[in-house]
Amino acid sequence: MGEEELEQEQEQVVNPWEVSAKDGGKIDYDKLIDKFGCQRLDQSLIDRVHRLTGSPPHVFLRRGVFFAHRDFNEILDAYEGGKKFYLYTGRGPSSQSLHLGHLIPFMFTKYLQEAFKVPLVIQLTDDEKCMWKNLSVEESKRLARENARDIIACGFDITRTFIFQDFEYVGGSFYNNMVKVEKCVTYNKVVGIFGFSGEDHIGKVSFPAVQAVPSFPSSFPHLFSGKDDLRCLIPCAIDQDPYFRMTRDVAPRIGYHKPSLIESSFFPALQGETGKMSASDPNSAIYVTDSAKEIKNKINKHAFSGGQDSLEKHRKYGANLEVDIPIKYLNFFLEDDDELEHIKKEYAAGRMLTGEAKKRLAEVLTELVERHRLARSAVTDEMVDAFMAVRPLPNMFD
Ligand code: TRP
Repeated sequence: MGEEELEQEQEQVVNPWEVSAKDGGKIDYDKLIDKFGCQRLDQSLIDRVHRLTGSPPHVFLRRGVFFAHRDFNEILDAYEGGKKFYLYTGRGPSSQSLHLGHLIPFMFTKYLQEAFKVPLVIQLTDDEKCMWKNLSVEESKRLARENARDIIACGFDITRTFIFQDFEYVGGSFYNNMVKVEKCVTYNKVVGIFGFSGEDHIGKVSFPAVQAVPSFPSSFPHLFSGKDDLRCLIPCAIDQDPYFRMTRDVAPRIGYHKPSLIESSFFPALQGETGKMSASDPNSAIYVTDSAKEIKNKINKHAFSGGQDSLEKHRKYGANLEVDIPIKYLNFFLEDDDELEHIKKEYAAGRMLTGEAKKRLAEVLTELVERHRLARSAVTDEMVDAFMAVRPLPNMFD
């Protein structure tokens, strides 16, 4: 490794277990695209999604939340030629309650499922969290089921969705594919991609194969038997890219298409884009279990403001939207483009105050969280079983 590269590595770290910007700075997404070798998601692709599906592009596409991809154009080419594909996403169940950032890939995946009318597999990597978070097998399995309820509450179509947890599903064809992948990846290669060391246990070294194989249709014989040619599209946050770089490397060698990816940026902490949402600091994030009062208090007390520190200065200079968390959060969750533009204009000009922006944000998030809470409370144990049952999905492509 050259000295320059080494320096870069110390500046910004993004991998499945650590996301940290260069001291005090923001994540540099352009640099990340270069380093990982993915492609930028440009307007022409977004227009193409609009044209092919006939539904307006999701806010997360319009506003650049999903900003990078790998071979997404190939999925669209195939789709345009009448060939469907399937979606694959997942979650590592490391905690009982999810924060808003956790919902983003699922909200987006639901939109993709609806727009393209395609099947979806969702992997709950209870094994991953058991190994990395040092949870017991039993506790990881329990969290996977709890998280499944939140995922189902996002509104997935049960006739097109299969949710599975590794501790229950790994075996059979899935395991056959894992071994094929494991035979193609050397120890040096995983060390290069993931940075494992001699002290890491062997579970970690072999885990990437578990996250790789849902990209191959034959891992789901009850769904895709005889459809080895089916393509896979993976919506995920960009920190998952290393897993799928490895997967894409192996895919053609064992007879499958490389999975395509559509990748999002990270949802910032309340304290600002330089901060990290941390599980140990409940004030760094809004949770789907927070009450209206908690949401309001967290935003008022902790959301980093780009407004000026006196009213006089604010009226004169306006807010710095680049660092303002209420604006960043509204950019994710306020769907009305005109209203968002209006708020940004007024706030930047100093005619709108931080308190007003925060008030609007609290309303938007309270509504979202309330909706989620209601939906989640309607998800019964039987529904979780139904989503997780190994079963055919007869009309999944209709
Ligand atoms: N490793 C992911 C996490 O910790 C979970 C995951 C498994 C995943 N398969 C995936 C995420 C596919 C996105 C896409 O959250």
